[in-house]
Amino acid sequence: MFGKKNTKAWNQLESVYKHFKDTQMRDLFASDANRAEKYSLQLENMFVDYSKNRIDDEVMTSLFGLARERGVEEKIQDMFSGKKINKTENRAVLHIALRNRQDTPIYVDGRDVMPQINETLEKIKDFSEKVRLGRFLGYTGKKLTNIVNIGIGGSDLGPFMATEALRPYWAKDIKCYFISNIDGTSCAEVLNNIDPETTLFIVASKTFTTIETLTNAKTCRKWLVDALGEHAVSKHFVALSTNKEEVEKFGINPENMFQFWDFVGGRYSMWSAIGLIIAIAVGYKNFERMLEGANAMDRHFATADLEHNIPVILALIGIWYNNFYDIHRYGVIPYDQYLQYLPAYLQQLDMESNGKTVTLDGKYVDYATGPVLFGGAGTNVQHSFFQLLHQGSEIVPIDFIIPAISHNEIGNHHQILVANVLAQGEALMQGKTEEEAALEMQKAGKSEAEINRLKKFKSFSGNRPSTTIVLRKLDPYTLGMLVAMYEHKVYTQGVIWNINSFDQFGVELGKKLALNILPELEGTAFGVEHDSSTTGLINHIKRIRK
Ligand code: F6P
Repeated sequence: MFGKKNTKAWNQLESVYKHFKDTQMRDLFASDANRAEKYSLQLENMFVDYSKNRIDDEVMTSLFGLARERGVEEKIQDMFSGKKINKTENRAVLHIALRNRQDTPIYVDGRDVMPQINETLEKIKDFSEKVRLGRFLGYTGKKLTNIVNIGIGGSDLGPFMATEALRPYWAKDIKCYFISNIDGTSCAEVLNNIDPETTLFIVASKTFTTIETLTNAKTCRKWLVDALGEHAVSKHFVALSTNKEEVEKFGINPENMFQFWDFVGGRYSMWSAIGLIIAIAVGYKNFERMLEGANAMDRHFATADLEHNIPVILALIGIWYNNFYDIHRYGVIPYDQYLQYLPAYLQQLDMESNGKTVTLDGKYVDYATGPVLFGGAGTNVQHSFFQLLHQGSEIVPIDFIIPAISHNEIGNHHQILVANVLAQGEALMQGKTEEEAALEMQKAGKSEAEINRLKKFKSFSGNRPSTTIVLRKLDPYTLGMLVAMYEHKVYTQGVIWNINSFDQFGVELGKKLALNILPELEGTAFGVEHDSSTTGLINHIKRIRK
């Protein structure tokens, strides 16, 4: 049974931590001219520099020891061979099969899953091309140029993030919209701006039971029927789901349904039919390139030894901070406007996967698991929360992501962007001592009294970790690599923490309670028992709405 006290590697790391914890990265860089080279890896168009982390060879060796002790190598093979690693739901976890470009068979319950995956890919190809070329038209014969994805969570965040990330590849005449929130504003703001005759609705829901998605889809369906009549539905609505029965019940022709399967988790589903809007926006070839990029990362993850395995190394560094430095926060800052929604996507990927406290053996953990992830696009966030990153009492390890080549090389914008991301990593790591701050002020001609008054305020503790991921250019292939890298990082951490990264029971309780409260708000149920705060809030809002 895994518990931090009874593992050799964990104990070893605790003792390494004791003598290493105050080591300054500045000193590590000063004493080793090869540090950056030693702690960086290149995979095709992706370069990962993890040298600005609080690590040395002993730390890394001990972390690899932990990974081996926890069976990471075997667990990676378990995923790729279709074993039912989602134990609480008794399911295989096969997002890797969705981009298995080698088409090697992968068996679940003795059945190769690849033929059905390929069949759906063919269907995505065929349909996306027909829409783009105007061969699948709306009910009144017009080209469908407004594509609206209705979904939430994994049925929204992945396609939304990827579609936005690949904006430079969009067909000129196509516009994409995303309706996710149950807040009527989400629907209204889209519907007010599109024309029913040229709109295709994609209802994306793995279960086809999610209240937000079904409510939004009903509203959109009514809007369309009011404008064009019931017969128009089959020309304007398609569904992406694992649940054929519910799709039919909703009133979407199963012929307009794109299938996926229970071995694809919601937050791992943008490579499946859930990616239909991506394929329509950027074209099937580019969608395929994205799958190929993810597949390149899959092959790397499955075959590279741990010491050269990018997702594994990033996972281990995260474990080092989370479980030994007690740093339970983590930031992702893409320096690319097209990647502005990546942090939101990764929030679900990481926090829904590893926000667990029960081990696979059904015991409560005695160690920290998934960290709180946040982020935003640089340089914008430099002007919001970076103050805390540089001088706050919290240490927040950061992933910086920057493409070397921009899609919009205007003047020297990109050089300034690059200069900023590199400067942030350098500043976080180096910091500035009080003496250095004093010297700087002295050079600027400040008085002794002023220097003494201000030097603490103007100093930076430094030794704040970051990893810098340089992409050659943000293209579909590289995006695929990047996202797959994070998926595998999350899985590796889940393996080390001995938790199931693929269920999400934690979202159920709130959903259930909302269903209790709804009839009270609507005035069809009374006297339901709640705590006094919830009852008070229900009554307060009911009074206002009267
Ligand atoms: O509430 C969480 C969740 O179940 C996510 O895991 C999932 O991505 C999202 O809801 C949407 O679910 P569905 O695709 O079944 O509508």
